[in-house]
Amino acid sequence: MPVYTLPELPYDYSALAPVISPEIIELHHDKHHAAYVKGANDTLEQLAEARDKEQWGSINGLEKNLGFHLSGHILHSIYWQNMTGPKDGGGEPLAADGVGDLADAITGSFGSFAGFKAQLTKAAATTQGSGWGVLAYEPLSGRLIVEQVYDHQGNVGQGSVPILVFDAWEHAFYLQYKNQKVDFIEAMWAVVDWQDVARRYAAAKSRADVLLLAP
Ligand SMILES: [Fe+2]
Repeated sequence: MPVYTLPELPYDYSALAPVISPEIIELHHDKHHAAYVKGANDTLEQLAEARDKEQWGSINGLEKNLGFHLSGHILHSIYWQNMTGPKDGGGEPLAADGVGDLADAITGSFGSFAGFKAQLTKAAATTQGSGWGVLAYEPLSGRLIVEQVYDHQGNVGQGSVPILVFDAWEHAFYLQYKNQKVDFIEAMWAVVDWQDVARRYAAAKSRADVLLLAP
């Protein structure tokens, strides 16, 4: 039995149009995300084989692959749920919509929603090579931070929990936006599901002592 499985999309391929085309969603989920799931499972098997045979010549590559594929699987699993159709998504989190705690956390951590939005947009749109822009809960300070992630796993503060992720890999936009990555990232804001982000914020905050660094 594989350890990791590809989650079903929470909507059909056309649900995020016109922001993201059905063709992109289908390829992105069914091919790219699926490949990370397979990669994570394959790597766990290869590590088990290495232990059985006590052959450690490939340990560096295997550990790198595990971090890459597992992080790719996790970020994509969050990505699909972070989005909803343009009719229900976008705007900004408001207390009137029941997501006041998230709105307050964003203002408290970044000064304003506009400042946060500008930082995350820039972080995602200026990734060099492949990467992500991520809003994460940082449990040591209890603040929200923006991370510019390399590939799926680099440049991350240990212990931080991603709650809103913008995929800035070319496979996420190139068929529709060509080389205009910044246009794609700016368009993405129209399909953000703030209810989902707020749910993730509440869950991360409730486990704030997870690092056990306080006395
Ligand atoms: Fe992706």
